Amino acid sequence: MKNIVLFASGSGSNVENIVRYFKSNPNITITAVLSNKRDAKVLERCNNLNISALYFNKSSFYEKDLVRKILKALNPNLIVLAGFLWKMPHDLIQDFPDKIINIHPALLPKYGGKGMYGNHVHQAVKENKEVETGITIHFVNENYDEGGIIYQAKTNISPEDTVQSIAKKVQALEYEHFPRIIEKLLIKG
Ligand code: GAR
Repeated sequence: MKNIVLFASGSGSNVENIVRYFKSNPNITITAVLSNKRDAKVLERCNNLNISALYFNKSSFYEKDLVRKILKALNPNLIVLAGFLWKMPHDLIQDFPDKIINIHPALLPKYGGKGMYGNHVHQAVKENKEVETGITIHFVNENYDEGGIIYQAKTNISPEDTVQSIAKKVQALEYEHFPRIIEKLLIKG
């Protein structure tokens, strides 16, 4: 049995999509969803999906090492960041080499870095009159959005596209590819 721990702090639509994708797979389980936002919609989704979820604060993540201890106890095969915006602590990255992945809603190395998340990314893409955008699934290192790229998928955009329509196109790519790539990594590892 392979197990996944997810980190999320937003709406959690990717978490829900991943949970549903693996629901009927007897070999892969979602052990827990960890969130640094007490009121994040993802926690509500976990209740509805009957998935274990935990909230943690800055102190337990960066100072007291509690999240790292929990992860060590859970011993996940893969840690998946699905809309999680805090930087992962050094020791945690050391403990799980090549086992932490993130999804970013753009074609890295473009439109990455601190503050580049959600609609901020799509807004910048639109302002720069890009003709394409997409998703990047990558390993996590100590810098925002800089770890080795695992997979990218692209979508075309036209001048008529709005920030909202760009977001929709990117989301469609996330829903289509993220669970599939997670599965591939788990089968390989
Ligand atoms: C996703 O679009 C993901 O790519 C993005 O947050 C969104 C979460 O949506 N992540 C980043 O911007 C990371 N820099 P969700 O909560 O509905 O899954």
